[in-house]
Amino acid sequence: MKIKTAVFVISNTDIAKCPKELIPEYAFIGRSNVGKSSLINMLVNQNKLAKTSGRPGKTQLINHFKINNEWFLVDLPGYGYAQVSKSKRKNFQGFIADYFLKRKQLICTFLLADIRHEPQKIDLEFMQFLGENEIPFAIVFTKADKLNGSKIHKHLQIFQKKMLASGWESMPMTFVTSATAKTGRDELLNYIDSINELMEEVRE
Ligand code: GTP
Ligand code: MG
Repeated sequence: MKIKTAVFVISNTDIAKCPKELIPEYAFIGRSNVGKSSLINMLVNQNKLAKTSGRPGKTQLINHFKINNEWFLVDLPGYGYAQVSKSKRKNFQGFIADYFLKRKQLICTFLLADIRHEPQKIDLEFMQFLGENEIPFAIVFTKADKLNGSKIHKHLQIFQKKMLASGWESMPMTFVTSATAKTGRDELLNYIDSINELMEEVRE
């Protein structure tokens, strides 16, 4: 799929204020600093559409970006960021949970995990939350440029083993990406494209 336009629409913490259009929406979630905002920039081929930072806790709002005037990418705050105050952390959880539970346009969630790490407790908990609420998700491994091919393979196996051990019967769709090396871009965009086409068929 070709990205013709990618435009920032609105930021907020209130799902009632999110765009009203009934077009497919894809959200990026994962621990702080995992590379959500960087991946969005890589997908749309822009450096600064989503704000990134070396320090965790950069994205603090629900950010809607409209792509090709046809669908949304949504950048979200990270979960499990210990540095923010407890009250704020609760707030994050509140409006993030609200977003996932109420946003009808949300077609697929991309749950990001650093390719170098095993799934953390909070990742497994978030997957469980998605599963219990029947919210479809795919797993996107980030920062693949940090490992060589055989290590990537090994890590994918470890991740899969841990996920299945935590109660999942099978693995969801997975992608290996690097925002730095721009790998995995076509795979992700083609996946989104195939879902968009499916949605169009359903609407027709
Ligand atoms: P929050 O908004 O704080 O939740 O973080 P985020 O998940 O949006 O992460 P962000 O995109 O801001 O990136 C965090 C850090 O990781 C930055 O220093 C990025 O440059 C770096 N980073 C992101 N993606 C990659 C990648 O593919 N490879 C490498 N080497 N670094 C990456
Ligand atoms: Mg971010």
